[in-house]
Amino acid sequence: MKKLQEEVLSRRTFAIISHPDAGKTTLTEKLLLFGGAIREAGTVKAKKTGKYATSDWMEIEKQRGISVTSSVLQFEYNDIKVNILDTPGHQDFSEDTYRTLMAVDSAVMIIDAAKGIEEQTLKLFKVCSMRGIPIFTFINKLDRQGRPPLELLSELEEVLGIQSYPMNWPIGMGQDFMGIYDRYHSRVELFKTKEYTKLPLNEDGQLQESHEIEESPVYQQALEEIELLNEAGNPFSKEAIDQGQLTPVFFGSALNLFGVQTFLETYLQFAPPPKGRNSTSGVVDPLSQDFSGFIFKIQANMNPAHRDRIAFIRICSGQFERGMSVTLARTGKNIKLSQSTQFLADDRTTVNEAVAGDIIGLYDTGTYQIGDTLVGGKNTFEFERLPQFTPELFVKVTAKNALKQKHFHKGMQQLVQEGAIQLFKTARTDEYILGAVGQLQFEVFEHRLKNEYNVDILMEPMGSKIARWVDADKVDEKLSSQRSMLVKDRYSRFVFLFENDFALRWFQEKNPAISLYQPMEDRS
Ligand code: G4P
Repeated sequence: MKKLQEEVLSRRTFAIISHPDAGKTTLTEKLLLFGGAIREAGTVKAKKTGKYATSDWMEIEKQRGISVTSSVLQFEYNDIKVNILDTPGHQDFSEDTYRTLMAVDSAVMIIDAAKGIEEQTLKLFKVCSMRGIPIFTFINKLDRQGRPPLELLSELEEVLGIQSYPMNWPIGMGQDFMGIYDRYHSRVELFKTKEYTKLPLNEDGQLQESHEIEESPVYQQALEEIELLNEAGNPFSKEAIDQGQLTPVFFGSALNLFGVQTFLETYLQFAPPPKGRNSTSGVVDPLSQDFSGFIFKIQANMNPAHRDRIAFIRICSGQFERGMSVTLARTGKNIKLSQSTQFLADDRTTVNEAVAGDIIGLYDTGTYQIGDTLVGGKNTFEFERLPQFTPELFVKVTAKNALKQKHFHKGMQQLVQEGAIQLFKTARTDEYILGAVGQLQFEVFEHRLKNEYNVDILMEPMGSKIARWVDADKVDEKLSSQRSMLVKDRYSRFVFLFENDFALRWFQEKNPAISLYQPMEDRS
């Protein structure tokens, strides 16, 4: 029992949120280097550029050189077991990306110092902020000229609405980048020097022993800015970090492996171990002995050679053991968990044991659905429902060959269950409409129906729409028009697809009695 608790408390499970090109792949690779999970730098990167073709998950990944799927990596550092859940880095991302954030206990936000807060970072940040999880910020690419650090900080606070506390501060930037002044560890870390790289500071925040860096104007400027932060900045507060109200900010350069270790060590010190989660029978204690977890992602045919389907489960309490029996709360059915895989760097390895905080992949033959709860103890309960995210793009879809209808419907149902796209039907004519958060999902869908179900489809783009669910069981079909199309989701709930903001407002003015909502309210 004590051992199990120690194991659970040693878990740190997080995802990296960023806009494409901010340096997520590079930072992940460097973190894995410290943990010794990969043998050489470049492995993760190579996969991205398509050189890593042997067991590539999908043809489309190779074709486009992007990561379509989220993967899970685990490494160990200073007796802490770190799980990183990857989020697709392309500008088109899916509900999967959002949902991955439901399975983590904290997030690392990477910002490109030259670009500041970008669109995708903002979207992902909002989902993390909705959950109130701790967010740690890494401002990257200090070896290049970027925006002034004070400006980046105020943008962070204004755009994201979160307080910040710089744990360290850059000394110069670009060609003048000399290192970081580490407020938290009271030391200066020098960039690219052969001599000892960490210079201790005294109580007044000055170097204990004089060093030539003191002559440099960028160092003097950094000292002035730090004084400003000491006087006017937010105070450091662990509670505020825990509640996701204050983000510790780190500066560095992932590519140059500078500031990364300091970041990792400080992150691991403050990042929370698995927390309790709400369920139909109250908060489930991660330290409890009974196994429980929920499925946040289902991935079909990850490896074409295997033709399998993997359900990713986040363990929330207790311990997973291969071959154990659990109850699928939705159906009450008993299931023996005999085939499981965990994703350690590039290799799939079989997992025999895993505890709360870990993510495992379960071999699935169509048993699981996204959001399913699995419980090992006598009490059966369900975890809080995962939020549904509002799709923004829509296409009408039909099978090219009428004789392939059966395969078409089967493929459609299975892929929709994975949750990366949402299925709707027109209210009157039952035509299929797909909705997604990003355009790429349609391409992936088309590609997979062809390759996995041998069905060619026709997709007629409908463009971007504003989807709003109707809070009523009945809707007058006459309200459906070109600008406000009435459809049903796969649970037969009515949804209007509005052409634009204007159409939505016009509709609301004309029909004040109809209450509209979004599955996950945008809190901004
Ligand atoms: P992503 O996963 O967030 O999309 O970003 P990724 O790590 O692939 O990094 C995007 C680009 O930024 C890469 O360059 C990478 O080398 C570069 N980069 C990452 N960290 C740093 C840094 O600290 N400093 C500098 N100067 N560059 C950094 P690329 O040219 O797109 O790829 P490559 O040709 O270098 O592989």
